[in-house]
Amino acid sequence: MDWEYIDQKAKQWIMEAGDKIRHSFSKTLNIQTKSNPNDLVTNIDKEIEQFFINKIRSTFENHRIFGEEGFGDEVSNLDGVVWIIDPIDGTMNFIHQQRNFAISLGIYENGIGKVGIIYDVAHGELYHAIDGKGAFMNDTQLPRLEEVTVKESIIALNATWVMENHRIDHNLLIPLVKDARGTRSYGTAALEMVFVATGRVDAYISMRLSPWDVAAGAVIINELGGRVTNLRGKKLDFLSKDSLLVAKPGLHQAIINEYLKEGNW
Ligand code: IPD
Ligand code: CA
Ligand code: CA
Repeated sequence: MDWEYIDQKAKQWIMEAGDKIRHSFSKTLNIQTKSNPNDLVTNIDKEIEQFFINKIRSTFENHRIFGEEGFGDEVSNLDGVVWIIDPIDGTMNFIHQQRNFAISLGIYENGIGKVGIIYDVAHGELYHAIDGKGAFMNDTQLPRLEEVTVKESIIALNATWVMENHRIDHNLLIPLVKDARGTRSYGTAALEMVFVATGRVDAYISMRLSPWDVAAGAVIINELGGRVTNLRGKKLDFLSKDSLLVAKPGLHQAIINEYLKEGNW
């Protein structure tokens, strides 16, 4: 498989998709809700997913597509080459802020992440990695991630997880928030993962994400020696929803062993 060629095509399409999104800023969005009143989707999310599907189908006819908006294939395994697509990650930010959202493309072969591309459209930052070939932000190669202690770390997480909620005992995360240097919340899993990749934050925790939220980010983080697992420290399957802990190498272990070990979720 010529991953360099696939990566080059994917980057070209993601830039085109970014242009389409930028053009939409001056137009009226058609906003709908999905599973609940805060789960939003727009005509642009749908158009962008369909744009990728048309490009992929006409260029790589054997590849399958697993997309959030459901225009791709019914995917129940990751056999062969599968593109895992989130056309807009951070739709709420896209609607309210016109920033802090990204396009996320993860390309997997038999369940192994091969290419990860995340485009921060509003800031013009393109992150990408090919398995074994390094990770980049625009043309700059990112250095490997180094160990950091909890005390010196900034942790990205949503305030929901330190309030009573039905996914995790919030008492587990309160000490972590107290011990860390600081916390941040950006409302876009894809960018929170690349912020770990660039060292803007040191870890990202979420209780329930879908494969398209994490597929591209996982390739980029793995390439830099970071760790991507669920909160129990187990591998993700990129087919079902799961919790997520992304962190620099030693920090990942410390969060699991010192804060989450007794957890039941
Ligand atoms: C959402 C964002 C958000 C995360 C949600 C995701 P969407 O993706 O990544 O940060 O907390 O769980 O669903 O719906 O904007 O693509
Ligand atoms: Ca998403
Ligand atoms: Ca989305």
